[in-house]
Amino acid sequence: MKTSSYSGFYKLSPEERLKEVSEFTGISEEEQKIIREPGALDIDKADHMIENVIGTFQLPMGVALNFIINGKDYVIPMVIEEPSVVAAASNAAKMARETGGFFASNTGSIMIAQIQVIDVADPNYAKMKIYENKDKIIEICDSKDPVLVKFGGGVRDIEVRVIQSSVGEMLVVHLEVNTLDAMGANAVNTMAETVAPFIEKITGGKVYLRILSNLAVHRLVRSRVTIKKETLGGEEVVDKIITAYAFAAADPYRAATHNKGIMNGIIPVVTATGNDTRAIESGAHAYASRSGRYTSLTTWEKNENGDLVGTIEIPMAVGLVGGATKIHPTAKVAVKMLGVKNAVELGEIIASVGLAQNLAAIKALATEGIQRGHMSLHARNIASVAGAKGEILEKIVKKMVEEKNVRLEYAQELMKKYSK
Ligand code: MEV
Repeated sequence: MKTSSYSGFYKLSPEERLKEVSEFTGISEEEQKIIREPGALDIDKADHMIENVIGTFQLPMGVALNFIINGKDYVIPMVIEEPSVVAAASNAAKMARETGGFFASNTGSIMIAQIQVIDVADPNYAKMKIYENKDKIIEICDSKDPVLVKFGGGVRDIEVRVIQSSVGEMLVVHLEVNTLDAMGANAVNTMAETVAPFIEKITGGKVYLRILSNLAVHRLVRSRVTIKKETLGGEEVVDKIITAYAFAAADPYRAATHNKGIMNGIIPVVTATGNDTRAIESGAHAYASRSGRYTSLTTWEKNENGDLVGTIEIPMAVGLVGGATKIHPTAKVAVKMLGVKNAVELGEIIASVGLAQNLAAIKALATEGIQRGHMSLHARNIASVAGAKGEILEKIVKKMVEEKNVRLEYAQELMKKYSK
């Protein structure tokens, strides 16, 4: 494999695929073994990760091909149970390759920690006092994490808000912390807890919650892509895709499903790299609601040539140090496969996969519908459940799809017939 583009990759065996990917990504024999063999996450490691451990749970790991992001070729590991997703991402990335792939950027790794202050008689006045003490607040917080500060991280700014609530007005202090290559939950939570007594002293109020916000609006990643109209099958298809997007932009019922398609691309990479999927999900959906109405996380338009252009903007609190990323053996190899320099590069990759996934889904929905593609994959699953392998499996799949009869009993019947 010379680039992330490889024709007929799906025809190889899992072993052959791993060999090709290893050549491209430079992962060692030992690392290949971690990916290939079950039990890479041994019970002792698992037992240290969560509580009441009784075993481990496996999912398939595939690779999305054809991705070029900011001029660099990537083979992207994806961990997911749903068929079609990896193939769809790869197909969309292939279309994007013709125009140079995806172009991504980010707003840095700034995480927000919230400090809730109640029982303040004069919250607007207290807000000013907090701002006056900004330098001292930053000093207290940064002193808790000298290593982060040494590498260029730490509290960058503060924001103070007065909000109305069912129990009256409350003050909310935001610490905006550059957590560099860490997801940063531990760092910012510790800072919020440390500075809380000082906030109480300034305001005369009582601090309650001290916790990060998953609505990571200062930790955004952005990506854009152009797909030529000819690649899509003409301007009519471009228009259909834009109409599909307009539906999601206008209607929360559709936006939820549209964004689910985006998360189909995002979460498998977040999982593969050992990051917190729930943090990404909640951040994404909260961000999609930021106008007060839930809407699409992507946009699709037509440029002056009539080509399709798409964008995504999404909070992306992922890290490369700490958490499962550094403990889970397969996650470590997945990160190595990507060859990323820092966490924001990982974030940009993830957003680009989300954009690709969205394109694949709405293109299918706006044209042939989603079921045709799903049917052959479904048939493949059913044939495999019936015990079919190799050539017989291919024959059974072909027959079931042709006859639009994808049922386990039928697969079993065909299995008996073809095995003779
Ligand atoms: C299915 O997992 C995802 C889709 O529903 C996304 C969409 O409707 O855009 C196909």
